[in-house]
Amino acid sequence: MTTVSAPGKLMLMGEHAVVYGYPCIVTAVSERLQVSMEETTDGNITIDAPQVKNTRFVNQAIIDGTNTWNILHKGLRIKTQSNFSNCYGFGSSSAVTVATLFALAQVFRNNVTQKQLFDTAYKTVLSIQGVGSGFDVAAATYGKTLLYIKGGSTLDELPWNLNTNGVSLVVGYSGVKADTTIIVKEVAKKREEQLERVDRIFEAIGKLVVQAKEAGDKNDWETVGKLMNFNQEYLRDLGVSTEKLDAMILGAMKAGAYGAKLSGAGGGDCVIALVSKGKKETVEQAITQSGGTIVSVQTGTEGVMVTE
Ligand code: MEV
Repeated sequence: MTTVSAPGKLMLMGEHAVVYGYPCIVTAVSERLQVSMEETTDGNITIDAPQVKNTRFVNQAIIDGTNTWNILHKGLRIKTQSNFSNCYGFGSSSAVTVATLFALAQVFRNNVTQKQLFDTAYKTVLSIQGVGSGFDVAAATYGKTLLYIKGGSTLDELPWNLNTNGVSLVVGYSGVKADTTIIVKEVAKKREEQLERVDRIFEAIGKLVVQAKEAGDKNDWETVGKLMNFNQEYLRDLGVSTEKLDAMILGAMKAGAYGAKLSGAGGGDCVIALVSKGKKETVEQAITQSGGTIVSVQTGTEGVMVTE
């Protein structure tokens, strides 16, 4: 058996606008999804995936990988395993897709580039979800913290380290599972109805992302925090924040976070708060008191890799 693992992701800034061509900042997290694969001789593809939703992505990844890379096999046995719940919105679908394709490449080819892997995995995810910028596929493939533009036209690794330098990222789960595809489609509908207004919001979010990149590159986390707060206001204007998310964000800000916002599509999933090391515990307590559950994650982790 060959075993590989790919990381989950957290969107730091730029969600929704990234679907329309603006940059976002995404980081790979310590939560990882493993795929083990071996060739068999019985002509069957056997998938043992505890999270049923993942089976569709594994199946489609096998179809796309074998077609794109001209792989002929006599049967496959595949097993997936993850150390994170698919509730948090950490991107288990993109991680399982990237890991399956990478495992396929390891077992049958060994010479796939990161860009070839990204392109094939993005195609797989798009064919199932129908919408998406591919930022989650980029995090699973390349890891680290990236400035990302849709389709991988920009994939710049940022020198950010949110685990040291006196700064920390606190993640709080709202307890509500968000459906990204539905929310992305709702935003698209809103854009059809109010084109100028929504496009102005996307453009403004894009500018915040560029400013945050510059500030973060200089370890100016106070400024990054302020920019996150502005980003959150625009997300609220888009209608994707919720009372629960707003309460957790308010709690984090009152407890002294540099900045806090929802992460991902909105409607639920997680909030993130950027804090100085000294404020970490107070902010965690405030988020818990506002009804959130703290999820302890490291950021900027490695992309897909062989583990066994
Ligand atoms: C969802 O986590 C982030 C969105 O920007 C969708 C996407 O980029 O695919 C809303």
